[in-house]
Amino acid sequence: MQIAIDGPASAGKSTIAKLVAKKLGFVYCDTGAMYRSVTQMAHEQGIDYGDQAAIMAALANTQIRFEPGDPDQKVFLNNEDVTRAIRLPEITNNVSQVSALPEVREAMVNLQRDIAAKQNIVMDGRDIGTTVLPDAQVKIFMIASVAERARRRFVENQQKGIDTPLKTLEEEIEARDHKDSTRAVSPLRQAQDAILLDTTELSIDEVVAKILEYVKVAQ
Ligand code: C5P
Repeated sequence: MQIAIDGPASAGKSTIAKLVAKKLGFVYCDTGAMYRSVTQMAHEQGIDYGDQAAIMAALANTQIRFEPGDPDQKVFLNNEDVTRAIRLPEITNNVSQVSALPEVREAMVNLQRDIAAKQNIVMDGRDIGTTVLPDAQVKIFMIASVAERARRRFVENQQKGIDTPLKTLEEEIEARDHKDSTRAVSPLRQAQDAILLDTTELSIDEVVAKILEYVKVAQ
């Protein structure tokens, strides 16, 4: 079974997808982490984020390793643990440029389909329902207001000791959504057969419960 969860930045997709996967005993795959890892690789090697040829050449010599289903969601570039590094602002603010490169997308989509073919999966991202897994039995398009998404990120950052002003977070979220929604290849959009789920006023438990209901109906 395949469950696809798409939506804009910081809508809570990964938190929810992880919990849903745990409840169902499915594997969770965070496709955003894959694009972030490619961005991290370009950053480390001093490659311009828009240089597709150089990024693809570097990718051929770099192993992006992660264990779908790993509770810590660890990611490695060759043998370097980049789990934390890929969440830093340098990567967050540039990943949309790298993920817009068609050859990068093609490589990642192939990898994602291979992963999904092997097991029951909950996969989250931007184009899972539209492109990666168009036959997924359950498709969710998860949204929340920009103000609420920035607020959630702000609280999360405070816990990590990161001090970015709320206004900056709102601007960053809007900028990333704009780039992800307007790119030429597989832009962020709701699949025709996806269920729209606005989490602005819902708790995590309420969102998980709703998705489990949809899964029950689809099973
Ligand atoms: O989900 P997350 O915010 O970690 O994703 C980081 C970035 O990776 C997104 O802003 C988007 O540019 C890219 N992405 C994508 N397609 C996906 C998942 C993520 O283009 N399926």
